[in-house]
Amino acid sequence: SQGHSGGPGVASAGGGRLLAGEVVSVALVTGGGGGIGRATAVALARDGADVAIADLDSSLGEETARLVEAAGRRALFLRTDVADGAQVAACVDRVERQLGPITAFVNNAGIEGVVAPIHLYPDDVFDRLLQVNTKGVFLGLKHVLARMIPRGAGAVVNTASTSSIRGRAGLAGYVATKHAVLGLTRVAALDVAGTAIRVNAVLPGPVETRMIESLDEQARRSGGIRRAGAAGYGKPEDIADVIAFLLSDKAKHVNGAAWTVDSGTTIA
Ligand code: NAI
Repeated sequence: SQGHSGGPGVASAGGGRLLAGEVVSVALVTGGGGGIGRATAVALARDGADVAIADLDSSLGEETARLVEAAGRRALFLRTDVADGAQVAACVDRVERQLGPITAFVNNAGIEGVVAPIHLYPDDVFDRLLQVNTKGVFLGLKHVLARMIPRGAGAVVNTASTSSIRGRAGLAGYVATKHAVLGLTRVAALDVAGTAIRVNAVLPGPVETRMIESLDEQARRSGGIRRAGAAGYGKPEDIADVIAFLLSDKAKHVNGAAWTVDSGTTIA
């Protein structure tokens, strides 16, 4: 069983399974207050993991923590800006001290920025996207893998996007930083090759969350139309199920993958 430090006053339901053959895991989900992160936190709790949630938004993050507890697992919300190395390091340290060694890491926090053609795209928005979507993913990998590598165990899923493998008009910052997430995934997967640790990326198509509402609203205001394909938008739970699978032992032969979850829209 993965270390349950089980501090005073921390209840543990026990008995769940995340990684086959291993009872009880500790998961950390960044951006766990949002649509995909929240659905993933709940899915992992139902699979038997205690779940830490890192997010900039305290009320959303706390709400997810309550949902994890309602699923019978321990939860810990930590207000964290993933773009800040000191905050990420402190977050990882607290999770391990309070819940035990992290066995599953969902490097998921991300922002969309604005919709604007590249010649009008604001520099400051581009910089913040680099900080959150790209450096944030790097920092998460760095600090979590620093713990996992000496133990030789653990699994990581980075939330990339179908925007990691194709262009989208008006989304210079988002597309560039999501391409970088795939690059980081591949480097990290190679850096842990030869251990039992795995690092994969999930590439969702459009999913019904606050982020897609914001992008749709921006597109509407600038006179554009965004349409869901025939398959419609995905639900956060559709992505969460695939993330949970990639983190599980069932995916033990999957490393460095770019796993699309888009009803096949990207291959057309
Ligand atoms: P969301 O906006 O509902 O969730 C994002 C969460 O990240 C929010 O709770 C937000 O507070 C948090 N966050 C933002 N900046 C942060 C920071 N600096 N530090 C810590 N937390 C921060 O959006 P959604 O859709 O759940 O996004 C999750 C991930 O999924 C993102 O990486 C996004 O790029 C990716 N994605 C989303 C798609 C969609 O259509 N919704 C499609 C493909 C990928």
